Amino acid sequence: MLVKFAVIGGNASKDLAKRIARRLKAPYVETRTKTFPDGESKITFRHIPKQGVILVVQSTYPPVDTNLLQAISIISQARKISSKIYAIIPYMGYARQDRQFLSGEVVTMSIVAKMFKTAGTKKVIFIDIHSKAALNHFKIPKENISAIPELAKRFKKMKLKNPLVVSPDIGGSLRAKKFAALLNTDFVALKKSRNRKTGKVQIQSSKADVHGRDLIVVDDIISTGGSIVKATQFLKRQKCKRVFVACTHGLFVGNAEKKIKKSGVSQIISTNTIPGSTSKVDVSGVIVESIR
Ligand code: R5P
Repeated sequence: MLVKFAVIGGNASKDLAKRIARRLKAPYVETRTKTFPDGESKITFRHIPKQGVILVVQSTYPPVDTNLLQAISIISQARKISSKIYAIIPYMGYARQDRQFLSGEVVTMSIVAKMFKTAGTKKVIFIDIHSKAALNHFKIPKENISAIPELAKRFKKMKLKNPLVVSPDIGGSLRAKKFAALLNTDFVALKKSRNRKTGKVQIQSSKADVHGRDLIVVDDIISTGGSIVKATQFLKRQKCKRVFVACTHGLFVGNAEKKIKKSGVSQIISTNTIPGSTSKVDVSGVIVESIR
C-alpha cells in the first residue's frame, strides 16, 4: 500500500504518536519494547510501510539515555526501509547542555545532534526546544514548534482576575511576552540566578507590581521545580492573588509537583510532550499542522 505518512510510536510517546497518526489518517506502527534485567531495551516492530515519510515519535524524558537510544535505534531501523525519516522529539533532553558553562564540561547536545544525523534522520521536529543554541547543533533540516498558543488557549478559558504573565527568568521574557499577547495582558520577567555547581536557584528581583492579580508563571521546562518554587515564594511575598503555572515540558523530577503545590501554586498545566497528571494540553495538532 502506498502511504504518504506512517507514524511509529516509541515507548515514551505512544499516546501522542497515535494522536498524530489519527489526525493524519496515517497508519500507526506499533513498537514493542522489552527491558532486560540489566536495563537494555529490546525493540520489535510488527511491520513498517515501505513508502512515504516515516514519522518516529519519541520524547527523551527520564530515563533520558534509554529513551534517546530507543529513538536512535528506531530511526536506524526505519531508515533501512525509507530515506524519509522525520524524528519528532517533542521533548529534547540534553538541550540545557547546549554550551560550556564551566571549563571542562562536555557539550552533550552537540553529540546527541550528531547521533540523529548519523542514524539517518532527514528532519528533526521539536516542541519548544530549550534554546536556539541547542537547535543550532543539528546540522540537518529542523523545526522548532511553539506550544505557547495551545497553552494560552487553555488559560483563556479560565476565569482569572486581571492576569499577569510572569517569566521566572530573563531568558524566558520572549515566551512570556508571547503568552501575554495571546491573553491580551502584560508580562513581567523575574531575575533568576542558578549556582552552576550546586544547581540552587535564587530570585533577585527587588519587587514586582503583582498586588491582587492572578499570575501565570510560564516556563519551558519544570525539572526539580526549584525555579517555580522560588518564583512563587517571591510573588506571594509581593501579595499577589493566585499563582498558576504553565509549562511545555513537565518533567517533575522526584517530588517536584508536590513541592510546587506546597509553595502555593493553585494549578499546573503542561503539555503531553511528557505524559503525566498535569499534561492537559495536546500538541498533536500543532505537530500535524507543521508537517502536512
Ligand atoms: C532554565 O533555563 C529553564 O528554562 C527552566 O527554568 C529550568 O530548567 C527549570 O528547572 P528546575 O525546575 O529544576 O528549576
